[in-house]
Amino acid sequence: MGSTDFRVRLFRQEDLDRVMEINVTCLPENYSSFFYMDIYHRFPQTFLVAVVDEVIQGYVMCRVERAMSKLKKLSLAKLSHVVSIAVMKSHRQRGIATALMHQAMENSVKYYGATECFLEVRVSNIPAIKLYDKLHFIQTKRIYGYYMNGEDAFEMVRPLNEGEPMKQDE
Ligand code: ACO
Ligand code: ZN
Repeated sequence: MGSTDFRVRLFRQEDLDRVMEINVTCLPENYSSFFYMDIYHRFPQTFLVAVVDEVIQGYVMCRVERAMSKLKKLSLAKLSHVVSIAVMKSHRQRGIATALMHQAMENSVKYYGATECFLEVRVSNIPAIKLYDKLHFIQTKRIYGYYMNGEDAFEMVRPLNEGEPMKQDE
């Protein structure tokens, strides 16, 4: 298990293999190295890793998209899209995903001017849904057959308020 101490830092190029390993181990949605590096080059401040005893045990990556607001009718917004987050099983339920999400949301506002954060999650993924509930995301729609195996997704969204310290959410 290692120590309970972890720190969150920006992703670096040399982290790629480990991040891809965590992704393949934890999730059925897998991506090419090009996909990761493209997100990293475009949004380096919201591609984060969590390190325990020098070893990466979790990551989050977001893509900031200009699109219609998911919370306010008929308004354009900058949305931080959480493309993928995962924490190795041996290191779960000690706050790592919460810390990754907080830092990613904070950096989405600070560096990219995002005003909302959203993601899709499998309707059966109770741990993840509980994590997002706790972070004050709300379910905005059910996307039928979103995943390769035909499973539905919930779209979940929350506002990102400038000037409001998001670490004091809980
Ligand atoms: N059962 C119920 N609730 C849970 C569980 C669980 N197994 N795990 C986390 N939660 C909820 C709890 O509310 C928890 O708060 P609490 O500890 O005060 O009860 C809250 O989430 C925060 O938990 P963290 O410790 O911060 O989360 P963790 O570091 O364990 O990571 C994650 C959660 C990322 C969902 C992890 O379980 C994981 O990697 N799962 C596999 C990959 C995955 O499903 N990723 C998300 C896919 S959706 C997407 O990527 C956009
Ligand atoms: Zn998505």
